[in-house]
Amino acid sequence: MKKSNVLVSAPGKLMLFGEHAVLYGNPCIVTAVDQRVYVNVEKVGGESIKINAPELKIDNYSIKVSDLGGVDYPKEVKFVLKAIEVFFKKYKIVSGLKIDTKSDFSSLFGFGSSSAVTVCMVKALSKIFDIEVDNKSLFDICFKVVLEVQGVGSGFDIAAAVWGGTIYFVRGGKVIKPLKISRLPLVVGYTGIKADTTTLVQKVAKLYKSHEKKIGEIFASIRVIVEKAKIALENTDYLKLGELMDENQKLLEDLSISSIELGSLTKAARRAGALGAKLSGAGGGDCMVALANKSKTAKIREAIEKSGGVIIDVKFNTEGVRIEK
Ligand code: MEV
Repeated sequence: MKKSNVLVSAPGKLMLFGEHAVLYGNPCIVTAVDQRVYVNVEKVGGESIKINAPELKIDNYSIKVSDLGGVDYPKEVKFVLKAIEVFFKKYKIVSGLKIDTKSDFSSLFGFGSSSAVTVCMVKALSKIFDIEVDNKSLFDICFKVVLEVQGVGSGFDIAAAVWGGTIYFVRGGKVIKPLKISRLPLVVGYTGIKADTTTLVQKVAKLYKSHEKKIGEIFASIRVIVEKAKIALENTDYLKLGELMDENQKLLEDLSISSIELGSLTKAARRAGALGAKLSGAGGGDCMVALANKSKTAKIREAIEKSGGVIIDVKFNTEGVRIEK
């Protein structure tokens, strides 16, 4: 049914296994977190798009529909505007809009606010203009938006925002397989350092160019880990899962994308009894995850904090994009 005002939310994500290797055609595993982005879209008269995003200090930003695609967008709202540009072009729409965004989490943590906001935007537009968009089409439109804005990306974060849950994923949505899992006893530690995904992706690409055989072997080993992790996750085999996290971390260190802080937080977590620990995402900073038996969780949290990390309390395997009202 056509609506003139829609509030949509979508979750952030946490990469569990396979970062970087996923950009070279290998699978990864990602889980959706319970911290969400909210976007309210209202169809209004005229041909202006107005955006308020208080957390990003965007107050009444305005642009004419006819200028979409023809000007540089401010970095805080470029995913929102690119999503509208792509959607309006695809469905030949011209309309005024009023957009308000809100987020449960800081974009600092690397939980994927840009992919979540893109998914919210496209989902809301499909409702407002009464266009049937199934999950795969929603993924495809959002993947195009993200690639146009940032040039690189496997799309794993978009898949998490669309489907939610925990997903086995191959670049570009070639495979999107929701995994049946019950619980994920993870502790997340933030290093305090904001990492730049594009820079890290380029760093690995350069390494791959100069050491194709060696880096290719690392990607192949990560692929094997992801396949084993999928089985361990579905079988709730935490001992195996922890082992695989450690192995994946070692290979990410070989790719030179870990950091002193990520190294010290993962080591501290292991010393405090974690079954395994690794960085999550592009590396260089952002977050690490540790697999923790309930009896050890408090000790692991304390060890991460003592090593300079900030514990981020999140739940995993949560719901994907949804219409709030
Ligand atoms: C970044 O969180 C994960 C990368 O694999 C990039 C991507 O898959 O889009 C480095």
